[in-house]
Amino acid sequence: MKKNPDSFPDGFLWGGATAANQWEGAWQEGGKGMSVADINEFKADLAPEERINGEMSSKNLELLLAKDGNRFPKRRGIDFYHHFREDIKMLAGMGLTSFRTSISWARIFPNGDDVEANEEGLRFYDEVFDEMIKNGMEPLVTISHYEMPLNLCTSYNGWLSRELIDFYTRYCKTIFERYSGKVRYWILMNQVNCIDVESFNTLGILSDRVENLEEAKYQALHNQLVASGRAIGIGRHINPDFKFGCMLSYRNAFSASDRSEIALEVVKYNQIQFYGLDVAVRGEIPSYMYRYYEDHGMEIAISDQDLKDIANTVDFTSFSHYRNRVVYDDESLGESRAVRETASAWGWGYDAVGLRYALNEFYERYHLPVLVAENGKGFKEEPSEDGIVHDPYRIELFREHIVQVREAIHDGVDVIGYYPWGPIDLVSCSSCEMEKRYGFIYVDYDNYHNGTGKRTPKESYYWYKKVVESNGADLE
Ligand code: BG6
Repeated sequence: MKKNPDSFPDGFLWGGATAANQWEGAWQEGGKGMSVADINEFKADLAPEERINGEMSSKNLELLLAKDGNRFPKRRGIDFYHHFREDIKMLAGMGLTSFRTSISWARIFPNGDDVEANEEGLRFYDEVFDEMIKNGMEPLVTISHYEMPLNLCTSYNGWLSRELIDFYTRYCKTIFERYSGKVRYWILMNQVNCIDVESFNTLGILSDRVENLEEAKYQALHNQLVASGRAIGIGRHINPDFKFGCMLSYRNAFSASDRSEIALEVVKYNQIQFYGLDVAVRGEIPSYMYRYYEDHGMEIAISDQDLKDIANTVDFTSFSHYRNRVVYDDESLGESRAVRETASAWGWGYDAVGLRYALNEFYERYHLPVLVAENGKGFKEEPSEDGIVHDPYRIELFREHIVQVREAIHDGVDVIGYYPWGPIDLVSCSSCEMEKRYGFIYVDYDNYHNGTGKRTPKESYYWYKKVVESNGADLE
C-alpha cells in the first residue's frame, strides 16, 4: 500500500518572504516613480489595531501628499536598497533554499504607462537576484505587491481602467525577458482576495471617482485576473520552464453553528475568498460569481478576449496564513479560538492547526502543488542587555506551524515550500510601523527611522537555521 511521506521531501523550499515596498526604501532613487505604498501613512495617534490604510479618496490623497515625509515609513523601509548584499548574506546564513520578494513596478516603469523601462531599476534587481542565487536561494518573485505606480491611480483610476491590462503585461514581458535565466517562480499578484480592505493599495481606485465602489472593485479585480492570465500566456512563450502561481490571503471561515443556513453562508463567503484562485487554476469564471453579481446588482464587463486570456492557468497555488475565521450562529464573523487566544495588540493571532486545515482545503480544491507564501506574527520587542532579542515565543510559534505543515504533507498534501513573513524586521504592511516585528533578524530602526539600522540575529535565527539545515527534522 502506498504511504504518504511523514517528513519534508528533498528539495522542499525553505524560504522567507518580503515585499519591495516594505524593505527597500530609496523611494526616490534609481529613477523610481512614486508608488501607492509611498503614501501609506503611519497613524501614531490611533490604537495599534486601528492603524489601517483603507479606501482612498482624491481629497485624502491630496492631503497625504502635502504631509511631512516622516509619516510614511515605507518610503525608507529598512534601506535594503543600500544593504541588499549584506542582508541577503545574513538571510542565506540560515540556510534558506529560496526567498520571496517583489519587484517594485514603479522602479521599472516609474509612471506605469511609460513606453521604455527604467534601466537602473532593472539593473538593481539583476544584482539582487544574482546575489540570492550566489547565496543558494531560489528567487520566488511577486510581480505586484501593493506598490503600483501612483500615476496609474491618479491618471487612470487604477485597475478600473482596462488600459492597466496593457501596462501590467508590458511590465511582465519586460521582467520575464530580463530575468528569464534567474527567476523561475512567479506570483502574479499579492493576495487577490483582499479587495474589501485593500482596495487602494491593491487596485488603485480613488473612491470618489466611481459611482458604485463595490462594482468598481469587482470590475478592477476582473481586469487584474485578465491581465494575470495574459501575462502567463506571454511568460510561457518566453520561458516554458517558468512556474506561475496565484496567491490569496487566507481569510476563509468555517461554521461555528449547527444551522444549515450558516453552513451555506460559509460556503458562499469562502467562494468569494477563492474567486481569484478559482479563475487562475481553472481558467474560467466560476458560475457562483454570476449569481453573486446578480444578487448584488453589479454589471461587470467581460469580453470574449477576456475569457481567452484567463484560460491561461497557473502551476501552483499559495496563500498567506495569519488567521482562521468562523461564522457564528448570529451570522457574525469572528476568528477561530486559537487566533483569539493568541491575539496581539494589533489584534492578530495565529492558528497552527488552522494552517494544516488550510493546506488540506487547498489541495482538495485544486490538486496543485501549494506553498505557504507567508506565515508568522508581529511582536513588539527589543534587544536584552546582551544586545540580542531572545524570542522563545517566535520559536514556539514556528515550531507549531512547521509541525502542522509536516502533518499536512503526511495527509498527502503536495506542499512545496514554507516562507515565514518578514524574516528580517521590516515596515508593517497594514499599520506602517517598524515596531510590529516578524523577523529572525532585528533591525535597529524605530517607527520614524531613528536608529543605526544595524542588523542582529535574534535567538530564533539560530533555531530556524537548524530547522532548515535538517530539512525540518530538528525542531528542538
Ligand atoms: C500580508 C501582506 O497580508 O501580511 C504583507 O502580504 C504583510 O505585505 C503581512 O506585511 C503582515 O501584515 P502586517 O500588516 O502585520 O505587516
